[in-house]
Amino acid sequence: MPGMRTLVRDLRGRLDETVVVYGWVTTLRLQRVMQFVIVRDPTGMVQVVNRRGGEDAGLERTLDELTVESAVVVSGRVVDNPIVKLGGLEIVAESVEVLARSDVPLPVDANTNLEQRLDWRFLDVRRSAQGLVFDVQTTVERAMRAVADAEGFTEMHTPKLMGTASESGAEVFRVDYFGRRAFLAQSPQFFKQMAIAAGIERVFEIGPVFRAEPSFTSRHATEFTGVDVEMAWISGVEDVMAFEERLLVRVLEEVKARHGAAVAEHVGVDVTVPAVPFPRITMAEAIAWLRSDGWNPEGDRVDLDPEGERRLSALVAERHGHEFVFVTRFPIGVRPFYHLRPDDDPTVTESFDLLWRGIEITTGAQREHRYEVVVRQADEKGMDTAPLTDYLNCFRFGTPPHGGFGLGLNRLLMVLLGLSSIREATFLFRGPGRLTP
Ligand code: 4AD
Ligand code: MG
Repeated sequence: MPGMRTLVRDLRGRLDETVVVYGWVTTLRLQRVMQFVIVRDPTGMVQVVNRRGGEDAGLERTLDELTVESAVVVSGRVVDNPIVKLGGLEIVAESVEVLARSDVPLPVDANTNLEQRLDWRFLDVRRSAQGLVFDVQTTVERAMRAVADAEGFTEMHTPKLMGTASESGAEVFRVDYFGRRAFLAQSPQFFKQMAIAAGIERVFEIGPVFRAEPSFTSRHATEFTGVDVEMAWISGVEDVMAFEERLLVRVLEEVKARHGAAVAEHVGVDVTVPAVPFPRITMAEAIAWLRSDGWNPEGDRVDLDPEGERRLSALVAERHGHEFVFVTRFPIGVRPFYHLRPDDDPTVTESFDLLWRGIEITTGAQREHRYEVVVRQADEKGMDTAPLTDYLNCFRFGTPPHGGFGLGLNRLLMVLLGLSSIREATFLFRGPGRLTP
């Protein structure tokens, strides 16, 4: 029976015509004389109306038996009705077919706590502004790929199963691999550098990242989507930061243009395009600023804790009027062995974190590309170099200077949309206490 679908946002152009709308029942008001059903599709909501006692007793019964969230197809005439809040129009029902009936009562509503909402994530996303997160995510990824493409990057897909633990061995999931031990990649780090060694001069990857971190914070997941970049022939880490600025400016331009109004309406955030360059501050300067501002963590800290990151972003906002800040030159003690150390200061690395509104969204660095030096740095850190053989071999046959970064896509979305937890910036969140649904 049903004909071509009309989307709710297009109904105004179809006044006095008979249309077919597919969607979910959002609200039912079954009164003595009139039956009102609000139907929702991805583009909006519309009121469907039926006067009782009409010729079609079956229609009246169908509406009486409807349940909220049932999937329905409605056909009827679009009529102008200025007193209707939803778009000043309604559909006078001619037929309503229930394609799939929803159980009652629903296990989630507007007051359900986050954990229970995550148990019923498909309903949570269906009934709230949460769906917008994934529209924005799509635009973010598309914009990133557009910049990467325009700047000559090659999109790679590196393995997530590894025979040796990358980077450190900590925070890595072990899996049984036909009786042997394998690991889930906690970063494409070594493989993207291997791609540089393979002559792929600019490497771009969007893919899953696994971290066996028993953290229950609002910003940590055990599986998330990483955006990884690696660039050869750089003259310094500044080239990498400048690329990230271009990437983020384009991302925010596109999100603003496509979703600015919806984001303001649903989550109350004004999407703004940041000015470039972003402020840059060395770690030593950052610590000095923070100490003079009263930040006094225990011990002799050389790294930022979440509180330090928040305070630093607040100071930068105050002094530079900017939401982003690159923190550079992290001490060697808090950075991995493969980060390059500048000639003028061997106690630090040519590395950076990018903070946005108090949260780290990116870590990057120029890498050490000289074989002897990278081996020495691994030794200095007391690492067992045997499992690193494949990685270290990459530097024995002429690998150019290079650098890159890893950006957490879910963290970016969380900050961009002002969400209170990374759980809401992930379709199906994975954390130490959550492996389902
Ligand atoms: O800072 P991370 O650990 O850096 C690396 O993986 C390096 N190999 C990157 C590089 O190229 N040097 O991770 C990169 C980003 C973080 O800045 C953060 O945005 C995100 O990944 N991230 C997480 N997101 C969610 N849950 C977690 N547990 C995360 N750990 C890191
Ligand atoms: Mg980091």
